Parts: sequence; C-alpha cells; structure tokens
Amino acid sequence: MAKIKKSVGRTTTVGVIDPGVLAFTAGKDVVLDRELIEVDCLGTAAHVTMLSRMKVNPPILTQAECRRVLGELQKIIEQARAGKFAITLDDQDVHLAVERTLTASLGDVGKKVHTARSRNDQVALDLRLYARNQILGTLEEVATLAETLLAFARRHVGVPMVGRTHMQPGMPSSVGLWASAFSEELADAMELLVALYQVNNRSPLGSAASYGVPLPIDRALVARLLGFEGPAHNVLYANQGRGRMESLVLDGMSQVMLTLSRLAQDLMLFTMPEFAYFTLPAEYCTGSSIMPQKKNPDVLELVRAKAARVRAHASAVYDLSRGLPSGYNRDLQEAKEPFLEGIATTRSSVRVMSGLIVGTTVNRDALRRGFTPDVFATDRALELVGEGMPFRDAYHHVKNNLHELAQLDPEAAIRKKVHEGAPFGLDFAEMKGRIAVPARYAKNEAKKLGKTFQKLFWHSSC
Ligand code: ARG
Repeated sequence: MAKIKKSVGRTTTVGVIDPGVLAFTAGKDVVLDRELIEVDCLGTAAHVTMLSRMKVNPPILTQAECRRVLGELQKIIEQARAGKFAITLDDQDVHLAVERTLTASLGDVGKKVHTARSRNDQVALDLRLYARNQILGTLEEVATLAETLLAFARRHVGVPMVGRTHMQPGMPSSVGLWASAFSEELADAMELLVALYQVNNRSPLGSAASYGVPLPIDRALVARLLGFEGPAHNVLYANQGRGRMESLVLDGMSQVMLTLSRLAQDLMLFTMPEFAYFTLPAEYCTGSSIMPQKKNPDVLELVRAKAARVRAHASAVYDLSRGLPSGYNRDLQEAKEPFLEGIATTRSSVRVMSGLIVGTTVNRDALRRGFTPDVFATDRALELVGEGMPFRDAYHHVKNNLHELAQLDPEAAIRKKVHEGAPFGLDFAEMKGRIAVPARYAKNEAKKLGKTFQKLFWHSSC
C-alpha cells in the first residue's frame, strides 16, 4: 500500500492547505474562472462603489480609495482581454486572484474590497452576470438561425415535398412548411430564453456566505449599478439559487439544441442519395480518409451528439443541486464546467447551423419524384367529402380503390391548403415578428448593459 506522507501545508490567502488538497479543491476553477474575470471585476466595481457610499464612520472605503480600485480593476479587465491575467493554484479561483492583484498594487486598500461579501455570493453574482451576457448572445444567434430558416422557407414556399408521419409518405406538403416549422420552434425557444433572462436578472451580492452581514450595506444600489432588475431578496435564496439558476439556463439551451438536433436528423435523411431532396454546402461536409467519393454530414452528426451533451449538462447540474442542504455547499463548484460548456456548445452549434442552412440547396426534381399516387389518398377522400360523402365512407372508398388513385400535380395539391399555418397559409410576417420581438429585446438589453458598465467605471458614483 502506498504510504501517505504527512504533508507540508501551502500558504494561501485564506489559510494553509495541503498542496494535493489545494489542487483537488480548486479543481478546474483556475482554468474555467478565466471566463469570469471580467464579470468578477464588474461585480467588485459595483461592490466597492457601494462600500464607499456607506454612511459609516470611519468609512470602510473612501471615495478616493474606491476610484483607485476602479482604476486597477480596469487594468485587470484589459489584461484579461489580452489573455494576460493569471489565476494561480494558490489563488484557487478568480475571486482571490483579483483580490491578490488589487492588494499587490494598492496595499491595504486592496485588502478592504472583500468587506461584507463572501466568495459564495461573489461567484453566484459572476455566474448571473455571465449568464445574462450569454443569454443575450444566444438570443441574437438563434434569431439569425430562425430568420435564415424562414428565408429558406419563403424561397421554397411553392416547392412540394412529401409530408411524412412514421417516416412513411403521408400527404402533400412543402419545403416552406418544413423549414418554417423549425423557425417557429426556435421562436418559442427564444421566448423561453427571454423568460430565463428575466428570472436570472437579480443580484445575489450582499448575501455573503448565505446569511447577510451585520453592516448597513445597500444591496439595491449594487443591483442598480450592475443593471439588474433588483436584488434577489432573501439572502439565503440569493445564495442557494446558484445551481438552480444554471440548471434553468441549461434547460433553455437544451431546448434550442432539441430543435437543432431534429433539424440535423432531417437534413441527414433528406440529403442521403436515396432521397437527395437537399444538397449540403460542400464546405460544410467532410471527406473520408479511405473512400475518395465521400461527402459526409459530420457537422450534423456532431450537432445531434452535442444536443445530447447539453441535455446531459443540464441534468448534471440539476442532479448535483437537488440533494443539497440549504446554504452554500462546495458541490456547486462542479456546476461551473457543465454550465460554461453547455452554453458554449449551444452557441457554436447554432452558428454552424446558420451557415449550413444558408448554403443548402433544394432539388425540385428529387422532391417531386417522392410523390407517388398514394400520397394523394387523403386529398382524394376529402374531395369526396366535398361532394357530400361522409368522411368514413370516403376513407373506405379510397382505401379499397388505392390502385385507382391518379398521379396528381403536387403543386396544385399544396396550393389548396390555404388555412392558417398550412403550406399556402403560412403567415411569414407573423413568423418574422415572433423572432423579431425577443431579438429586439436582446439588442436593447445588450445596449443598456453596455451603457451601465461604462457608467460604472467612467462616471463612477463613488
Ligand atoms: N470556487 C468556489 C465555487 O465555485 C468559490 C466559492 C468558495 N467558497 C467556499 N466557501 N469555499 O464555489
């Protein structure tokens, strides 16, 4: 059996820790937290502004000290943008890395920034700020994909396509109906993302370790400075809302991925040579190392697989949260990786699918070849209904005489479907509007947040 030596502790900002334990507990934070440097600095900027405005004597932080902190935070943000801000193992995470850096440049002033907060509420805040930006970015990208699908649908609104159920030929349909179905599904997902944005848009800062602090902090001010709707009110909930919030956001992401996965599956099917309804852009296909003729839809296969991963991330975060007792628990740190990866995977999948759809072409002849006479069976039965026959009789009449069905003109067939949402009853303006409303919301919010953060530093209220 391996002998375990008594270790020599390693001194960190928050105590002496065994080096192995330090590496184990910090885990991937030293890498993952690089994503959070900027939001961590924004949170600290708002926090120090609030500290400097607290009516206590002696002041916790003077206005001049606050301004010095803001200046240093800006430098850290610039370094982070250039990829030059380091988070070391001794730091454990971004929060202590920023505090170490501020203390190195500002001495005692740096040591004051953590007054009245804990890393627990700090990381909860960072993740909410991060989620806000990411949801807005996702909304813009999903809007692009939904619009691309809608434009594709509009271009091919009169192109007949066999409508299938159970994968078997069913009734006359159109490429326009097929493509705009996915667009509308994405519009629904966008509304869901806006709702999640709003649920997430509350500041947990000031909840500290989970139970607040015995100092007259102004949580509403911090929330306002960061452009939140307000604080998450109950300090215990504000803190333990972590985990739940990430799981909600990932639920939204996985809904987007659900649409992408099914779209990918359809495209794989309908681009098979046996169907050849559509042709994928060559630059979105990959070759084989042995079969020279190959043009493989790897992008689509990966999107389908990534949908499974994003869903798994959502489940992982839910599962690691659901058994936790109230208050902060370190388990929550494990939610960070699936959270960050789930969002990034969703966004890259959405972007790649937009490009793929733009370059996908439609093969009218192949689509037309799918129309065998039996595809018109239901239309024929309904024609008999129009002549006065009860539907069930018409159904049996056609069923017993399938061989009599004529090869009709699929274009004429789809032109007869004019009621709301049918191939020739698609309201493109309405569908465009469903995408535009959440897209506009995202754009306005992003603009508003940009201004809020500018103000935080440039017209500081410390
Ligand atoms: N990296 C930690 C996390 O993600 C920060 C909070 C640490 N808090 C603590 N009480 N150990 O949860």
